[in-house]
Amino acid sequence: MAHRLFEGKEHAEAYLRFRVSPSDHLIQQVVDFVEKKKGRPFDLALDVGCGSGQGSTLLAKHFASVVATDISPAQIEMAVAHASMPNVTYKLSTAEELPLATGSVDLVTAMSAFHWFDRPCFLQEAHRVLKPHGCLALLNYTLDMELSHEDCPSDTLNAICEEFYAALRPHFSPHLRSTSKPLYKESYEAIPYPHKEW
Ligand SMILES: C[S@@+](CC[C@H](N)C(=O)[O-])C[C@H]1O[C@@H](n2cnc3c(N)ncnc32)[C@H](O)[C@@H]1O
Repeated sequence: MAHRLFEGKEHAEAYLRFRVSPSDHLIQQVVDFVEKKKGRPFDLALDVGCGSGQGSTLLAKHFASVVATDISPAQIEMAVAHASMPNVTYKLSTAEELPLATGSVDLVTAMSAFHWFDRPCFLQEAHRVLKPHGCLALLNYTLDMELSHEDCPSDTLNAICEEFYAALRPHFSPHLRSTSKPLYKESYEAIPYPHKEW
């Protein structure tokens, strides 16, 4: 079953302003995995559930072209209006029916989005569009991580974050409860690809 959130115009505007981008380091780790398992050329990446496109933009540095899709017209509108890379094409589409040809994609990503999809349908579609030896990367963050910053002692920083998350917890989606980690772990273990990295 798919879960539909983050789709309204106001939400899309807030995403564009405040959404934290994945790090270059994380994207590089994904690209290194594709290099190792499939090799070059890096023709096409597909970023599913792209939101306002922060992650899609980072992929564009590594791939000849990127198709970035989202179910929300408002998110796609924001992404198109603020696009900064000419090799990214934004398309309105569901994760469960991807607008690309069979066997055409080197890398499929879903960044903080996979948990909202109809996961079995999406995984089947991702498999369909991937080239032989193409890669699938499911990225997400958790709240139970240890944080550190040069300007703040770790204990203080982690205590502040814990207080912040405690205030938010009553509003978390019942679908995810307090963490999405078990959902990802379960999918990771069930995905039948021979080469996997957690
Ligand atoms: C939490 S946001 C993440 C956006 C972006 N990837 C990021 O990291 O900032 C999840 C996105 O997935 C999209 N989404 C949710 N369900 C979807 C579905 N079934 N098909 C395609 N996109 C979907 C939402 O509209 C939203 O933009």
